[in-house]
Order: sequence, then structure tokens, then C-alpha cells
Amino acid sequence: MKFTAVLAVLAASASANAFTIAAWANTNYSGTQFQTTGTGTYNVGFLAKSYKWISDGRDGCCIKFCNGSRETGYRCGAYSNTNVTSANQFNKVVTGCGSTVLNC
Ligand SMILES: *[C@@H]1O[C@H](CO)[C@@H](O)[C@H](O)[C@H]1NC(C)=O
Ligand SMILES: *[C@@H]1O[C@H](CO)[C@@H](O)[C@H](O)[C@H]1NC(C)=O
Ligand SMILES: *[C@@H]1O[C@H](CO)[C@@H](O)[C@H](O)[C@H]1NC(C)=O
Repeated sequence: MKFTAVLAVLAASASANAFTIAAWANTNYSGTQFQTTGTGTYNVGFLAKSYKWISDGRDGCCIKFCNGSRETGYRCGAYSNTNVTSANQFNKVVTGCGSTVLNC
């Protein structure tokens, strides 16, 4: 019974999206924070100056950073930035896995 339960948990975690994007209005992970673990298009609500993209990269999930309809960055493997260059600051993120096309 216990063994079965462990297998079920492993199967669930293997199929789930295992990423988190957290973004902040100021450098160094400070100020207003936005966070999601979901796939799709999200308006951050502010121009983000720092972020943490927490992902093991092996789940095939990636993120595109956008300022409106302009792409400012793209990551699949985990990456954090305490001070996003002004040209690359973003107010929208698009996340997806596998063959999903990410458009700003
Ligand atoms: C972040 O905070 C550290 C320590 O508080 C500081 O040394 C560093 O300069 C800060 N960096 C940015 C980008 O704000
Ligand atoms: C962030 O980087 C810019 C450009 O390199 C620099 O001018 C600014 O002082 C940095 N901000 C912080 C808080 O470290
Ligand atoms: C984001 O786009 C707006 C126009 O939609 C522009 O005014 C602004 O300078 C851009 N910001 C960055 C950081 O690129």
C-alpha cells in the first residue's frame, strides 16, 4: 500500500509542470511581486526588474519574457536575474511546455 502510494506521487510529480516564475517590480527580488506556476499568458502588472525562473528544464517547459508584444527574453533552464537590463525588463510572461509555441 505504501509502495503504491509512493509510485502514485512520483507519477504525479513527473507529469506536472514543475516550474515557478516569480518577478519583482524592483531589483534584488524586492517590491511588488508576481508569481505563477501555470502555463499561459500572464500580465505581470508592472515592469519587472528582477526575476527567478525556477525549473529543472527537463520537463520541456520554457518561458518567454515580453514588454507588450515585444520579446525581451527566453529561458528553458533555471535562471535568476537580480537586475534586468532596462531594455529587457518585461510586463508580460508566456509559459508553455513541449511543442507549445510561445508568442508575446
Ligand atoms: C542586491 O543586494 C545585495 C546585498 O544586499 C547588494 O550587494 C547588491 O548590490 C544588490 N544588487 C542589486 C542588483 O540590487
Ligand atoms: C542595475 O544595472 C544597471 C546597469 O548595469 C546599473 O546602472 C544599476 O546601478 C544596477 N542597479 C542596481 C540596483 O544594482
Ligand atoms: C515597453 O514598451 C513601451 C511601449 O509599449 C515602451 O514605452 C517602453 O519603453 C518599453 N520598456 C522597455 C523596458 O522596453
